[in-house]
Amino acid sequence: MSRRKIVAGNWKMNLDRAKAKELTAAVAARIAEAGSTELVLCPPAAYLETVGAALHAAASAVALGGQNMHDKPSGAFTGEVAPPMLLDLGCRYVILGHSERRTLFGETDPRVNAKAKAALAAGLTPIVCVGETLEEREGGRTEEVVTTQVRGSLAGLLPAELEKVVVAYEPVWAIGTGKVATPQQAQEVHALIRSLLGSLASPAVAAKVRIQYGGSVKPDNAADLAAQPDIDGALVGGASLKADDFLGIAKAFGG
Ligand code: 13P
Repeated sequence: MSRRKIVAGNWKMNLDRAKAKELTAAVAARIAEAGSTELVLCPPAAYLETVGAALHAAASAVALGGQNMHDKPSGAFTGEVAPPMLLDLGCRYVILGHSERRTLFGETDPRVNAKAKAALAAGLTPIVCVGETLEEREGGRTEEVVTTQVRGSLAGLLPAELEKVVVAYEPVWAIGTGKVATPQQAQEVHALIRSLLGSLASPAVAAKVRIQYGGSVKPDNAADLAAQPDIDGALVGGASLKADDFLGIAKAFGG
């Protein structure tokens, strides 16, 4: 089963408008370096329009994604962004349930599940994040935690919906720490996630789902991760803020 690799840049709450424009133009101009790898830029909501316009101006195939959204299409939800708004801005993807949302903003599996359903209903592809903390890993609970998150976040999705979803395995202890999971540690959890997807739908559906690894991915560790059979791309934080690093990672995944 060949799955198109997908490398997404999660800019988090970084850059200013001028720098967002500059980085987008640099990535768009160098998309050929990514080869067959699909690229996604996920800027802060405030810069989605700027980045979308820069991609449009470059007639670029680089996709746009949000970092979060509400699960309702409109209403009295001060400060939130609705799924149709992301679509309206040209987004094809949206990151959901990132560990920073889970730990700092209290997002639970049922909430991530509601958002995943809303994203699919709106025509957006959710990138659903899961991953254990250091304490959970050291306590031998990685499998239990990831299983609960995958089952909870993707509950009730139809097989036809599930096969469109992107799952990102991001061990919390590897995010922003420079401590990347070993390719074997990552592969082990990716294989677990794929088997869980198989039990939620079918092995055929699970074989279509792209599973990204995230957590301190850099150009110099990306190739070993990319060589693993169940690692289909990367969700990149810090290194996505530099065009050289982001494209270096994309290249390692099949450029
Ligand atoms: P870093 O690549 O900075 O470790 O962040 C990973 C991440 O959280 C991407 O969503």
